[in-house]
Amino acid sequence: GVLQRAPSGHLGPSYKPKEEKPTATVSTEVTHSNVTILPQTPQLIALLTMIRNKATNRADFIFYSNRINRLLVEEALNHLPVLPHTITTPVDRTYNGVKFEGKICGVSIMRAGEAMEQALRECCRSVRIGKILIQRDEETSKPRLFYDKLPEDVSQRWVLLLDPMLATGGSALMAIDVLRSKGVPEEHILFLNLIASPEGAANFAQRYPKVRIVTAFVDQGLNEKNYIVPGLGDFGDRYYTL
Ligand code: URA
Repeated sequence: GVLQRAPSGHLGPSYKPKEEKPTATVSTEVTHSNVTILPQTPQLIALLTMIRNKATNRADFIFYSNRINRLLVEEALNHLPVLPHTITTPVDRTYNGVKFEGKICGVSIMRAGEAMEQALRECCRSVRIGKILIQRDEETSKPRLFYDKLPEDVSQRWVLLLDPMLATGGSALMAIDVLRSKGVPEEHILFLNLIASPEGAANFAQRYPKVRIVTAFVDQGLNEKNYIVPGLGDFGDRYYTL
């Protein structure tokens, strides 16, 4: 054949049948029908392994989390309805296809959610993106709304809500309160995150059972500081600071 086998040891690990593949920590199962977990492919697990590693530098953290964000956006878009659309190809054959009908927008929960905007823009040209700033009140330690800027016709759009870490869900639930107060139906909101906790997913299922959650992985739980474990630490710090 054309391909010559390199001297042994030069190719790296050889292809392995399924039963011989390395085992990885698996996503926690959730029973809520509103949660979609991305297919647990070898690539996704490798990407998650990169961003969870505390030895991963900022440039790599940005690159690999962006790749996961692309997968999340593509998956979320699959939850939106399409209509039949028949077209003619350049060789004059018809093709029975579909097209997406409707308007979407992104809403990022600042600051970490802004890291997911790039993936959304790559998938949806010239998409409108709103922002919501929610921070923990120092005195009450409850989340508080500081700022919001949303498209004026947000109630007519599908909303992709962006926040990479679903811990307790306090901020995201408040963001959904804001969207609902502007007339967005619960059914039109998709909440995208990289890593969710079982507690956060349960809180959502209870408060907003019709909001769809699209996540790459459901982790084991929360620690005493409400960080997700095993998690990846503070997403905003790792993405935005050296
Ligand atoms: N936000 C983060 O950035 N990390 C967590 O683990 C939880 C919330």
